[in-house]
Amino acid sequence: MLAELFLDASRACRVHSPLTHTLLVSAADDLTRGGVTARVMAGAQCDRHGTVPGLRFAGALHRLVLEGRAPALARHYPTVGGEPDLGRLWDDALPVLEEHADELRFLVTSTVVQTNEPGRSAPLFGGLQTATHLAAAEAGRRATFPVRLLEVGASGGLNLRPHRIAYVVDGVAAGDPGSPFELDPKWTGRPPVDVRHPLRLVRRAGCDLDPVDVTTEDGRLHLSSFVWADQLHRFRRLQAAIDLARLDPVPVQRATGPEWLADQLAQPERDVLTVVWHSVVWQYASPADRAMGRAILADAAARATPQAPLALLVYEPRRTHRTDPYEFQLLLKLWPAGVSLRLGSGAGHGIPFTWDTAPWT
Ligand SMILES: C[S@@+](CC[C@H](N)C(=O)[O-])C[C@H]1O[C@@H](n2cnc3c(N)ncnc32)[C@H](O)[C@@H]1O
Repeated sequence: MLAELFLDASRACRVHSPLTHTLLVSAADDLTRGGVTARVMAGAQCDRHGTVPGLRFAGALHRLVLEGRAPALARHYPTVGGEPDLGRLWDDALPVLEEHADELRFLVTSTVVQTNEPGRSAPLFGGLQTATHLAAAEAGRRATFPVRLLEVGASGGLNLRPHRIAYVVDGVAAGDPGSPFELDPKWTGRPPVDVRHPLRLVRRAGCDLDPVDVTTEDGRLHLSSFVWADQLHRFRRLQAAIDLARLDPVPVQRATGPEWLADQLAQPERDVLTVVWHSVVWQYASPADRAMGRAILADAAARATPQAPLALLVYEPRRTHRTDPYEFQLLLKLWPAGVSLRLGSGAGHGIPFTWDTAPWT
């Protein structure tokens, strides 16, 4: 039931976004009573849990606020200079929901969650460094491999330039120290290799069912709307990543993951490490796409050689016995080396992150 899905989503942001939490709890209550939220969400009643309809609802409202079209509600939104008054939030949201119900319904039913989170570039960066070193060791090379990075579910492609970011780890610079986009990855522990080593990305490409063009203002607004509005540090991080993406464009192709991967992986490439990367995509992909994606990757893995290695690097929530309900883990598989590692775990948005290498079973 939709109200339950809203409550599930509210629990996931309770600690980090009191604003979104309060909004979703009130909306769940309104849904149960058949209020205006039910009209806004008409057509989404049967949505799968993984499509997180509550976040689409919160994103649609945030978009109106960012566009300057909901001034009374905007005073609760730090992303436009407001300060949340949680006791009044729902009272101020109700007139906006009533006035814009049709448009909000269109936004909620026509979009997928597009949290393109550049914080995930930090674990990606450490994971790529690890993969290039392990692949070089397997091939008996002194120099690490350059990388061909293929991202499935890339959204606006903001994680396609992990080597162009200035990371500061313990006061030491890594990545591109001259980059206008600086990231403190807040690491506990360290990757198993030296991350100050230069990381060479010779090719980058991404696909998405609904790619976002970050060179347009509509694209910027769309991605911005999915940031929880009381997380100003993430909002600013996103704007910095979009600015960098505009300086260094990498197109994201409209395609389903498996059809695109089949094309990209058709031929093994010598003297580069091909890395298939996805973060927080798996839950949104259909079961058919997941099965097909696994088969395509297995096929490409069987054709990988020490001089044309293939890696799978993922940052996805996983259910574990230790955690409730799940934990975001960075996982690495490498072929033909037969490496299968859990490199660590961290927050859903990639920062902070704890490096802790163990076998991935
Ligand atoms: C929550 S976003 C994550 C975006 C990005 N990976 C990140 O971590 O910032 C999930 C993305 O997966 C895309 N997606 C879902 N299913 C897909 C599929 N079968 N093939 C390609 N993209 C898919 C969605 O369109 C959306 O852009």
